[in-house]
Amino acid sequence: MMRIDKFVSSQKAELSRSMVKELCKKGLVTVNGAVCKKSDAKIDPENAQVCIDGELITYRKHIYIMLNKPQGVVCSTRDGDSPTVLSLVPDHLLRDGLFPAGRLDKDTEGFVLITDDGELAHQMLAPKSHVPKKYAVTLEKPWQENYPELFKNGIVIDGDEECLPAEFVGDTIDAHKCTLVLHEGKFHQVKRMFHALDNKVVFLKRISIGNLALDENLPLGECLEILHKDVDKLLAN
Ligand code: URA
Repeated sequence: MMRIDKFVSSQKAELSRSMVKELCKKGLVTVNGAVCKKSDAKIDPENAQVCIDGELITYRKHIYIMLNKPQGVVCSTRDGDSPTVLSLVPDHLLRDGLFPAGRLDKDTEGFVLITDDGELAHQMLAPKSHVPKKYAVTLEKPWQENYPELFKNGIVIDGDEECLPAEFVGDTIDAHKCTLVLHEGKFHQVKRMFHALDNKVVFLKRISIGNLALDENLPLGECLEILHKDVDKLLAN
């Protein structure tokens, strides 16, 4: 059971608990069709039909947001000198406890998962989980014929750090372009792997996590809610 003010503000970050109290007093909150004047009334979050001014609140225990991160935005929850990924979440998807599950560099674009589900984030990011992450890469120098084999055998970065096998596919039309699938997430890994091959990443975009691809129609800087039926795809190997 949960207090109604807590329930509403957990689902709609734009409504604080004190705002919910006022709405209750005004008779604008109903529970299962009956007006609820008390903001400390307890409800069953999974089953109660709660409406605010006639609008039904659909309860979601957790929320999963796909962001197409632009360059210049940082994957942290706190404000520093640069905008954070959370500043790009629109009001209707905002709620307490959101955080980016995994990091992209400030100059990397693409798929960032933003959620309030710590359990899923842990499963996705745990070193043992090996959830694949696919990147579109543009290189300073053309890729070489031996790259697929080198990535398959495991690149050694900075002299002694061994990487798991990764899948490299070179673009046959533009030799500066390729995709790379990693099954782990070391710091600056893609950039450091190509550096170990005496090449340089000039543009990087994450295009999928697990079995879920970044929506091609999602503009840079915009978010969409991942449907519950697609959430498991984030963990698919
Ligand atoms: N590898 C990198 O080098 N940077 C990223 O942002 C992600 C993977």
